[in-house]
Amino acid sequence: MYEDEIEKTLISQEEIAEKTRELAEQIGADYEGKEVLLVGVLKGAVMFMSDIARALPVPVHLEFMAVSSYGSSTSSSGVVRILKDLDKDITGRHVLVVEDIIDSGLTLSWLLKNLGARNPASVEVVTLLRKPDAIKVPVDVKYVGFDIPNEFVVGYGLDYAERYRDMPYVGTLKPEVYS
Ligand code: XMP
Ligand code: MG
Repeated sequence: MYEDEIEKTLISQEEIAEKTRELAEQIGADYEGKEVLLVGVLKGAVMFMSDIARALPVPVHLEFMAVSSYGSSTSSSGVVRILKDLDKDITGRHVLVVEDIIDSGLTLSWLLKNLGARNPASVEVVTLLRKPDAIKVPVDVKYVGFDIPNEFVVGYGLDYAERYRDMPYVGTLKPEVYS
């Protein structure tokens, strides 16, 4: 469907599925006997949230937050605003933030402070992707799917101007798509 617009596949559908199983096993072992509150960051994390939630061997509750980060541009502003807050109180809960990608770390760093102030029992992060070369603020991320090069990527929830979220793999766009 989007093949003509994709320069290369970075992570295939099979690799995502395999990694999701690995992460779920690891997280399941760490949270054995506990109930986990998954907090998905809209909209990018929706696909990963849905897959990891079903792969986890512990009971989970699902919550979502939406924060502003990029709009349709491809670099971080550092300005974070809550567009949709959690519906529930997280006091005493084991919160696991589910992210699509950590780029500069600015969004996540802000989010962790914000959630930490609500007195959860614990807060950890699982992200499908991370760009180690783009990091601007140090963030403690316990579960990382893939470290990727500092390139703009789309697919599996990630968009460019709201397109490509439904692509089942992660890839880079051809330069002409941006112009
Ligand atoms: P920061 O820089 O705050 O970025 O860590 C976090 C959010 O920015 C979006 N983001 C991307 N979206 N392709 C995308 O489609 C990318 O390569 C990319 N890098 C960052 C994303 O929403 C992430 O949660
Ligand atoms: Mg995001």
